[in-house]
Amino acid sequence: MKILLVDGTIVGRKTGAVLEQVKMYIQEFRPEMELDILSLADYDHQFVDGRPLGEYNDSMQDLAHRFNEADGYIIASPIFQGSIPGVLKNTFDLLHPHTMRYKPVSIVANGGTYQHHLVIENQLKPILDYFRCLVTPNYVYTHTSHFDIDNNIINEDVHDRLRELARVFVQYAEMSTHLSKETLDKH
Ligand SMILES: Cc1cc2nc3c(=O)[nH]c(=O)nc-3n(C[C@H](O)[C@H](O)[C@H](O)COP(=O)(O)O)c2cc1C
Repeated sequence: MKILLVDGTIVGRKTGAVLEQVKMYIQEFRPEMELDILSLADYDHQFVDGRPLGEYNDSMQDLAHRFNEADGYIIASPIFQGSIPGVLKNTFDLLHPHTMRYKPVSIVANGGTYQHHLVIENQLKPILDYFRCLVTPNYVYTHTSHFDIDNNIINEDVHDRLRELARVFVQYAEMSTHLSKETLDKH
């Protein structure tokens, strides 16, 4: 099973640091899972405008391909202006609506303001619901104060929550393999 761990920003290090940690915890629960980190910073982004995929540059086509190939996702997002980064939304806009259908997804997010954890509930989850993802009930929101100067996570509660997220995610991943991917709704 191939899981894509998506660092949803082109600037900043903390979401990447959280992803590395989640990767380690998932590996502890399911060493056989294939875990690939995809950093949006490595791509040459173009604005999505509805053209056919083949008319975007190779980098954008590769981005869509990696999402298509994956069986599940960990989405990591920083909070920008009370929302998700534009580059992450642009990436979702690139995907066919069926790309992530019935696939397991967990969310981690980081912000400089505690109250902005609700951005996940109010903005990121509805997008993943539109894609009909199997979004785990747990997500982890980290704050600047949870990291040391080298972006290591120094808060034990955060580690516990990440471990718990990984535990539930691997069970959702297993559940998704038993879920029929056939659908009556072709749209
Ligand atoms: C353009 C921009 C807007 C931001 N807006 C918010 C915000 O509205 N709420 C918040 O909690 N943090 C905000 N932040 C802080 C980022 O969430 C934080 O920098 C990010 O999670 C990554 O941390 P790092 O840059 O130290 O790696 C913003 C950062 C930037 C660059």
